[in-house]
Amino acid sequence: MWVKAAEESLLQEKVPYRVKMEDKPIIIIKMGEELYALLNLCPHLGCALHKGELDGYLIKCPCHDWLFDIRTGEFTAAPEIKVPIYETRMEQGIVYINLKGE
Ligand code: FES
Repeated sequence: MWVKAAEESLLQEKVPYRVKMEDKPIIIIKMGEELYALLNLCPHLGCALHKGELDGYLIKCPCHDWLFDIRTGEFTAAPEIKVPIYETRMEQGIVYINLKGE
């Protein structure tokens, strides 16, 4: 299910933008022309990922430094552990997220 999530003008390059969609905390990250959306909840102990450092496509959980690839949601040390990610699309300056996720 595609839902309107944000106006593109509110997004800053490489700065996680927080939205709450159907009670899910989600972050949207703009990287050039690409947009990534993932659950703002670390699968380790549930810390919010938006406070973590972003280095390229990797975001580091601020609690215990687990690294996740924002393109796939995979934990780099054990790819079977994932943060749910969501498809995104942009239409006329509005970002939509597909809440079905992975
Ligand atoms: S809660 Fe994210 S690494 Fe522990």
